[in-house]
Amino acid sequence: KERTKGFSPFVNVGGTAGYKPVPLKKRDGLVWFFDIKGGEQNMGEKKVVLAYSGGLDTSVAAMWLTEQGYEVITMTADVGQSVDLEKAKNKALHSGASKAYVMDLKKEFVKEFVWPALKANALYQGAYPLNSALSRPLIAKAMAAVAKKENAGAVAHGCTGKGQDQVRMEVCTNALNPELVVLAPVRDWHFSREAEMEYAQAHGIPVLATTASPYSIDENLWGRSIECGILEDPWNEPPSDAYILTVDPWNAPDHQEFVEISFEKGIPVALNGEKMDGIALIQSLNNLAGKHGVGRIDMIEDRLVGFKSREVYECPAAITLITAHKALETLTLDKKVLAAKKEMETKFAELTYEGYWYSPLKESIDSFINTTQEYVNGVVKVRLYKGQAVVRGMKSPSSIYQMNIATYSEGDVFDRSNWETSC
Ligand code: ARG
Repeated sequence: KERTKGFSPFVNVGGTAGYKPVPLKKRDGLVWFFDIKGGEQNMGEKKVVLAYSGGLDTSVAAMWLTEQGYEVITMTADVGQSVDLEKAKNKALHSGASKAYVMDLKKEFVKEFVWPALKANALYQGAYPLNSALSRPLIAKAMAAVAKKENAGAVAHGCTGKGQDQVRMEVCTNALNPELVVLAPVRDWHFSREAEMEYAQAHGIPVLATTASPYSIDENLWGRSIECGILEDPWNEPPSDAYILTVDPWNAPDHQEFVEISFEKGIPVALNGEKMDGIALIQSLNNLAGKHGVGRIDMIEDRLVGFKSREVYECPAAITLITAHKALETLTLDKKVLAAKKEMETKFAELTYEGYWYSPLKESIDSFINTTQEYVNGVVKVRLYKGQAVVRGMKSPSSIYQMNIATYSEGDVFDRSNWETSC
């Protein structure tokens, strides 16, 4: 019997119907407007908010939507990617946009998305820290907020029809404000890359074909995703030009380096004893661990749209932090909680991957995970060396490890008589 190579790409985007997201308006004093629904709205049918990266796809999308008679307002999210935001803004305005928003979402990204994922040790298929997947619900939220502010009836994204980013943007938008229409010009028009470039040139959009990356890249504080081109053949080793945040472990320093990470309730708060905010902590760790080649991931991933794809990631801080956090949990959580949490972690990662960030199940899992993190306090010493982050020591005020019971040396207080009959 012939093996099926995948399933037909049926995407159920209706699963969050009826779900009412918790109002997140100015939660914890963050300067951020989450007032997405409600109020008298007369949503402009021909006004659209486009998620804009500054790249070719979204620039062509801006121009194309303008030509279709839309007033286009762009929203560029700063989630810590290495992009000149001022340039992106100007480019948007040269690509037909009537207004260009650039929103610094780094703080919200870390607090509301990255830390919950870290608490859940979230790794899709045991390997991918979900860096790209985690930014989508935040971008969808920012888009919905701008749409509300600008009285726009639609949002648009530049995702192709082959990945899960389109699904995430649509499922999340639906959960946040089902009245918004979601447009996907890049998915619908079937332009080839060459045709896009021609279109851009004809419309005066600056294209830097020579510097165009041979890969599809998505980047933020939690890591960098690299896809397409030569990577599509799983036999090909990723070329060195695919990486920016990490060195090849082969070329990494010949000496080890230690980093001590302090956690409070599952969240990292200091590096080597120095207190830092989340953004600075992740950035420093990206540098430190990246220098030692830590955090390269090369995997065959099962996409939501029904096929396997070869994916390369570099996530130095994410891998180091997840390694440390997981270890600290073994010291501070009991056996049964650890076992149940493992199941929740898998579910959390799958839901995030599939775009169900704003969903009842995901919120229930969050509650469970937050309860467990009460005791995840302490310091983990990690050795960075030639592509590996290895835990070399840990201590915790909430440790439930009892040395006087575990010891095989003098001072042993373990009562063996308890087990004489049962072992
Ligand atoms: N495969 C990853 C995911 O679906 C990475 C997506 C990266 N996006 C991109 N446009 N390159 O989460």
